[in-house]
Amino acid sequence: MPLELVQGDIGQEWTCAVVTAANKELAGGGGVDGVIHRAAGPELLRAIRRIGGTPTGTAVITPAFRLEGQGVRFVIHAVGPIWRGGTHGEAELLAGAYRESLRLAVENGCRSVALPAISTGVYGYPKEEAATVALRTLREVLSTHPDLTVRVVLYDSGSLNVFRRAWAALQAG
Ligand code: APR
Repeated sequence: MPLELVQGDIGQEWTCAVVTAANKELAGGGGVDGVIHRAAGPELLRAIRRIGGTPTGTAVITPAFRLEGQGVRFVIHAVGPIWRGGTHGEAELLAGAYRESLRLAVENGCRSVALPAISTGVYGYPKEEAATVALRTLREVLSTHPDLTVRVVLYDSGSLNVFRRAWAALQAG
């Protein structure tokens, strides 16, 4: 299956679409979003401000602006949930953010997409649980889009190990 778990900086990716972890106001932010915005330049912020906002569990797509210089055509702005203990529909909202991201990539003709571990930074989603939701959702989409390459880009080795373990458990179960 074309699902790759890698350690690195998502701002260095060269896939057709790169996903950032946005907020529902589409106001720009730090973390992954700061990295993507710095790499794409100020036009990216203007583009999402024109869109104005998107509900938690969804995503929107814009051009990649300066990231086009490294071959990226689109930035997908995915809004994951803020962790509130796990009983507020967080898993379904997180799955929605991944599902919508891949749908937008495919609809726009992409065959490769890079995603971060949405919601696991400022939004506080526990990494183990987020990894299981993310990978289950990505596997489900890939089962109907086998020609798509999906790269999950984890910033640190601890996160990479969490995602590797979650993937092994999903494949075994
Ligand atoms: N490449 C890949 N992953 C990264 C990078 C990077 N360059 N920098 C940070 N990360 C990882 C973090 O370690 C974390 O595991 O991305 C994950 C997501 O963290 P955040 O960017 O904080 O995203 P999230 O938890 O979804 O919070 C979203 O933060 O920046 C604001 O505007 C944004 O309000 C929104 C909120």
